[in-house]
Amino acid sequence: MDSQEKIAKTLEPLTKVIAYVFGFLITVVAICFMLVFYIGTIPSATPVETSPAPEPVVVELTEQEQLGKSLFNSNCAACHKLNRKAVGPALAGVTDKYEREWLYPWIKNSAAMIAAGDPRAVAIYNEYNQSNMNAFPLLSDEEIEAILVYTDTGK
Ligand code: HEC
Repeated sequence: MDSQEKIAKTLEPLTKVIAYVFGFLITVVAICFMLVFYIGTIPSATPVETSPAPEPVVVELTEQEQLGKSLFNSNCAACHKLNRKAVGPALAGVTDKYEREWLYPWIKNSAAMIAAGDPRAVAIYNEYNQSNMNAFPLLSDEEIEAILVYTDTGK
């Protein structure tokens, strides 16, 4: 055995130790990477970006409903409520009771329909003790439609 071989022999355990240490370190690093990756894939229960607080629930009316509401309030509310009888019947859901073809002329001039003997006009007239509803000849079909769409919301 020459001196070189001797050195190699004495270093052999040392290289083994170094190899083990390296092997160990690489394994630890690999596990760390895997852990980081794994944690990254867990859907976090509390999202980092907190979603904005839910908007307060506001009962929004469309533009048409808004128009209907103001027309209703200025022309009809004196005698009609949406969900209960007043001087006249509750108007919420009135479009289920009558078709548009009946409602438009009724609102424009109910007295004319009663005079003409329309059976439903006469019936409601008698039911309300023959009280008279105003005529609204100046309301356009669009305005009447807006009122009906609004009263249908029941709000
Ligand atoms: C002066 C009070 C008065 C005003 C104002 C009034 N109404 Fe009437 N309305 C009545 C009465 C009373 C009746 C019941 C029928 C009758 O007696 O002629 C009635 C009936 C109705 C009916 C039939 C409802 C049903 O269920 O049979 C509709 C629809 C209606 N009104 C819509 C309107 C609309 C829309 C307006 C506003 C543009 C309006 N009314 C304004 C008094 C009024």
